[in-house]
Amino acid sequence: MNLDAQILSALRNAGSGAVSGADLSHTLGVTRAAIWARIEDLRSFGYEIEASPHHGYKLLNVPDVLHADDLLSLVRPGQIIGRDIRVFEATQSTNDVAEKLARDGVGEGVVVFAESQTRGRGRMGRKWLSPARKGLWFSVLLRPDMRPQAATQLTVAAATALVRAIRSVAALEAEIKWPNDILIRGKKVAGVLTELNAELDHIKYLILGIGVDVNLMPSDLPPDVRKIATSLKAETGQTLRRADLAAAILHELDRDYERIRNHEFASIAQEWQARCATLGHRVTIQIGDRALQGRAESLDGDGALLLRTDYGHLERVIGGDLTLQK
Ligand code: BTN
Repeated sequence: MNLDAQILSALRNAGSGAVSGADLSHTLGVTRAAIWARIEDLRSFGYEIEASPHHGYKLLNVPDVLHADDLLSLVRPGQIIGRDIRVFEATQSTNDVAEKLARDGVGEGVVVFAESQTRGRGRMGRKWLSPARKGLWFSVLLRPDMRPQAATQLTVAAATALVRAIRSVAALEAEIKWPNDILIRGKKVAGVLTELNAELDHIKYLILGIGVDVNLMPSDLPPDVRKIATSLKAETGQTLRRADLAAAILHELDRDYERIRNHEFASIAQEWQARCATLGHRVTIQIGDRALQGRAESLDGDGALLLRTDYGHLERVIGGDLTLQK
């Protein structure tokens, strides 16, 4: 953690109390003047920090901007996911930035956020709207020691982590629509785009691109999207602080990544199945120009969907566009 992140973390830990400049300078091993200079800098980003000669520094308010040091100060010690955080004001797609970092040899766990994306992309080549400061648009670089066939485990993990984070921060019960749409009252609020670079038997790196509609209003969306999408703000009536949600998602994702590394994917799959709006229903899955019809039965050990087709076979499906049959 750098100095700003350490200062923010100390101020947060003090809760509604204050921390003296002397204490900060002693614990962080820098001069009081250096602390003051960093506090001034944080104030220029919109952090409201009270400075009193008798009591020290108190964090009064934090702005709804994504700031790498602030996010880092919210990441728990020992987390892999989020141990390195980069924030961009605008980028084409955070998945592209993460991909470049991967090719440059950056270690797993780095998370790239952007306040806005000019060419955000969704699954099946779709466009993903990413207006400035309204949502969370980010990508996580992972280097899991696994076969490419098992990559779906990570998409499934991302969906369950999103459901838990949304529950803890927004108190909303979200559902999952296979493969990884997160829905609230039938409308999409978040999605996951998994991209990987692999050899036949081994993943070199994998990027989980996650988009969450946090503080968008219906007017931020074109009319056709408005019918099928929602936001956490539209559902709760409240503006959420995006950094809190981001920290919760990274924490939950890290927990699931650990379960995967410990070969405990079955417990994630169980959680996914309990939140899945699709299982047990008759569905059509469009894969390119092929349409599969049948009953969505369960997930297999790699996270693929098992579909009992109308001909009675069990098909293993890893991607496609699913619609529920009436
Ligand atoms: C989907 O549901 O189709 C997946 C949407 C994924 C969107 C995110 S936003 C951050 C990352 N960068 C992108 O260009 N896409 C993903």
